[in-house]
Amino acid sequence: MIDQPKILIIDDEPLMRISITDAMIAEGYEAKGVESGREGIDCISKGKYDVIITDLKLPEVDGMEIVKASLKYSPKSKVIMITAYGSVDTAVEAMKQGAYDYITKPFSMDELLIVVRRLMEFRELEYENIKLKSEIDIKYAFEGIVSTSDKMQDVLEKVKVIADTASTVLITGESGTGKELIANAIHHNSSRKDNPFIKVSCAALPETLLEAELFGYEKGAFTGALKQKKGRFELAHTGTLFLDEIGEISPAIQVKLLRALQERRFERLGGTETLSVDVRIICATQRDLKTEVKRGIFREDLYYRLNVVPVHIPPLRERKEDILIIANSFAMKFSAQNNKPIQGISDKARELLVNYPFPGNVRELEHAIERAVILGNSREIQPSDLSDDILAFYNKDFKASMKVSYSEPLPEAIEHFEKEYIAKAIEEAHGNKTRAAERLGISRKTLWEKCKNHGLEKQQK
Ligand SMILES: Nc1ncnc2c1ncn2[C@@H]1O[C@H](COP(=O)(O)OP(=O)(O)OP(=O)(O)O)[C@@H](O)[C@H]1O
Ligand SMILES: [Mg+2]
Repeated sequence: MIDQPKILIIDDEPLMRISITDAMIAEGYEAKGVESGREGIDCISKGKYDVIITDLKLPEVDGMEIVKASLKYSPKSKVIMITAYGSVDTAVEAMKQGAYDYITKPFSMDELLIVVRRLMEFRELEYENIKLKSEIDIKYAFEGIVSTSDKMQDVLEKVKVIADTASTVLITGESGTGKELIANAIHHNSSRKDNPFIKVSCAALPETLLEAELFGYEKGAFTGALKQKKGRFELAHTGTLFLDEIGEISPAIQVKLLRALQERRFERLGGTETLSVDVRIICATQRDLKTEVKRGIFREDLYYRLNVVPVHIPPLRERKEDILIIANSFAMKFSAQNNKPIQGISDKARELLVNYPFPGNVRELEHAIERAVILGNSREIQPSDLSDDILAFYNKDFKASMKVSYSEPLPEAIEHFEKEYIAKAIEEAHGNKTRAAERLGISRKTLWEKCKNHGLEKQQK
């Protein structure tokens, strides 16, 4: 069943706000009124509203900002803008920015209700469409993504809504959470699905090679450029370009990328011809780019270009409901692949899995189950088949090594724990920084920074 429609009303004039809210409730909608744009954005970022009715003129945060916030946090919501008499230009501008409709003051409640009712009919139609579609192809398109948690369902819901738009998507999440899987799902559920899906791993390449990879080069552009080569932007024409680990790119590449994104134009290295492409951009990072912007490491203008539609994938430990169903699906997959009949996972092994924090997220779970299926001797996966890390988590020594004295406030305790945790990982990896970072589920660069902050540099090789 389709839920009761929810409406948010943002207006600083109390009389207007209350009368609209009351009229919407009388019509059978769930309605909430707030008096400032700031409160409005807060509501939009937290709840799902089908319709947002906002005054254009609000102190501090105005109606245009509400449209932006709605596109960002709740792209399915439809915004109706209330504008002053005679301000058609601003109304048109609001529609360009993404508002769904507008209504000019003074208006009667009936006029507004007609607009809202039309929107609701549209919503029901959309719902029917989605339902139909979901029965036909979403089952296939999303079959790679196993989940049951509300948090992941919200992510998938958002993915379905934004897939077939041209919007740039920024996927964030820790290592192994499924960022690439989501990027794939977005492409394969867009009308570009039969066109190229091109991936660039930005962290894997040094600056000059990355530039050549992205934009291509002309023959003779540099030593070794024996013939012309097309870049990934060109190869992705009419399709999707997936820029993985975007947080790792150097300032020089950031500038070039910004221009290519703004204008969808660029030149090959050593070339003079300006090429223009039609490419949908999806990028992913484990980093908190906003913090990187504050720290001056990532360009703010590029950040806003990329963060049009943010999709955050929560770490597995924050959606523990997913652990066992993903584990089961991996168990089935690896059992079939390796021709080893496995009936399932024993109760004790399930308990260990559910309680383990999975710093390497789904990828770590995948490897743990693959290993358990290959090495195990019984029909059910047993605790002893699980990885040392999962077992060590229960190891008494490990627990005892965490000196808990409650003598310091939580932030300091967390700092100390982090230091010990990192030092232990480095020690166990015999000083191999790459392996330690993998184990901790963070990038090498993040590990390096954390070591520096904790004064652990000397322990690394
Ligand atoms: N919900 C899920 N259901 C099934 N498999 C999943 C799910 N999430 C992730 N995986 C699997 O886990 C592995 C890691 O996923 P993916 O490569 O997409 O993660 P990532 O976030 O891009 O990681 P990294 O930051 O390290 O690049 C892949 O093999 C992927 O198929
Ligand atoms: Mg990835």
